[in-house]
Amino acid sequence: MLVKIEKKSILDIEADVIVVSLLEGVKTPGGVTGIVDKAFNNIISNFVIAKEKFEGKYGSIYQLPLVDCGKKIFITGLGKQSEFTYTKIRDLSAKVVRLCNKEGNAEKVVSILQGAGVAGLCPQRCAQMITEGAISGTYAFDKYKSDKKENTLKEFIIAEIDEEKFKKAEEGVKKGIITGEAVNRARNLINESSQYLYPETLAEYAVANSGVKTTVYNKDQIKEMGMNAFLAVGQGSVHEPKFIHMEYKPENAKKKIAIVGKGITFDAGGLDLKPPSSMLTMRDDMSGAAAVISTMKAISELKPNVEVHAVVAACENMPSGSAYKPGDVIIAKTGRSIEIDNTDAEGRVTLADALAYAEELGVDEIIDIATLTGACMVALGTVASGIMGNNDEKIKEFIEVANKAGERFWQMPMFEEYGDLLKSDIADTKNTGGRNGGASAAGIFLSKFIKNTPWIHLDIAGTAFLDKANSEGIKNATAVGVRSLIKYIAD
Ligand code: BES
Ligand code: MN
Ligand code: ZN
Repeated sequence: MLVKIEKKSILDIEADVIVVSLLEGVKTPGGVTGIVDKAFNNIISNFVIAKEKFEGKYGSIYQLPLVDCGKKIFITGLGKQSEFTYTKIRDLSAKVVRLCNKEGNAEKVVSILQGAGVAGLCPQRCAQMITEGAISGTYAFDKYKSDKKENTLKEFIIAEIDEEKFKKAEEGVKKGIITGEAVNRARNLINESSQYLYPETLAEYAVANSGVKTTVYNKDQIKEMGMNAFLAVGQGSVHEPKFIHMEYKPENAKKKIAIVGKGITFDAGGLDLKPPSSMLTMRDDMSGAAAVISTMKAISELKPNVEVHAVVAACENMPSGSAYKPGDVIIAKTGRSIEIDNTDAEGRVTLADALAYAEELGVDEIIDIATLTGACMVALGTVASGIMGNNDEKIKEFIEVANKAGERFWQMPMFEEYGDLLKSDIADTKNTGGRNGGASAAGIFLSKFIKNTPWIHLDIAGTAFLDKANSEGIKNATAVGVRSLIKYIAD
């Protein structure tokens, strides 16, 4: 579906559906909704509001067929002005697109620049949110379904006649398209079955689709680089591990940043096998990897003045005769020894080496993103992702940027005492210390593999994969993190 913005009156653009909106409680529509109302004989104020009692409650959509011209007007409810947010604009936009495709007879829809009129929000951010929502609203993972539902909607046009708003919104649409497509690409990767998506195919995907120089290291090369911790996790699988390094290097970059994604293409738990209900969705354990690969492609399109390295240690965590075992002691890349307390705490073991590799690149900042702990999911549910790190200022900044990108992160503590649980009798550290305080303990574990580079850790275990649709209408892979990473790096 094509999303674009035109500097025309909404009434002058040919479309099957016209989308306008109402704040809750408004009896006489203002702005462009008012203009549309007048153009159609006050049908919105006299009929939809006065007779049909449409109140503009957030998320409601009134579908008004226009008998004489065969078009429809959708009036979307924005809710109370005081409670209105950019995220709501995005979610509403997704809903509109889904509705158009469900009705099945709309090919072209024209929308007002929701939020930038009477509600008074920033035109650029509104446009980006509308665009991202619209693209998200087209998403379906139906490649294995024999009865695929074709999306009928081909064009989503935003109409804005005001010169100044139009210019800002144009920039928002551009970023929205790049970000929206990055999100859908990551969803495809995450939703893909691990039967087809394993380290080698993930690496092939990155080479073909990251949009930047991509180097893939095989098992022997990984060994040569001293990444024994990463290798140990992958040694139980029939699929060879792959280490993926993507680089975006503009001239005169103002800073260097590394993003590291957990890339467990399937997490069976290893010999500490997961129970069936927990294992069921563990193809999502490469959501961090999908996020960084997809982000790189967006970065290659947005071309920010920042050098970006993306790193993925991709492997499968399986039980077998060759699998790593509880009680094993592994010497990680940094030289630190790890006693394996539980083979299901594998993500941090692979990240130990990936983070060390990232730090050796001499970057100014490292961000890792990982479906790391069930404990984080227990703490924050599916509503927010966890964030930790060794630099409070950067964490604060990231949370703020993420909020603007429409994603929620909540800081988890990294009190030293959480590390007590990781003390080992025979090695420098154990990989886990039990379930209590698990998200923080995992954060402390990771911190031991970074010397002094500012570092942020994102735990997306609870938010990466949903069994119920969220406010955006997205079920299964959400591609959480992609929007925040792109905005944090490129804005
Ligand atoms: N991949 C899981 C974490 C996870 C759980 C992601 C639920 C998404 C949803 C991770 O590798 C894991 O198994 N963690 C263990 C750690 C424990 C053994 C200390 C966990 O959280 O149970
Ligand atoms: Mn695990
Ligand atoms: Zn895992």
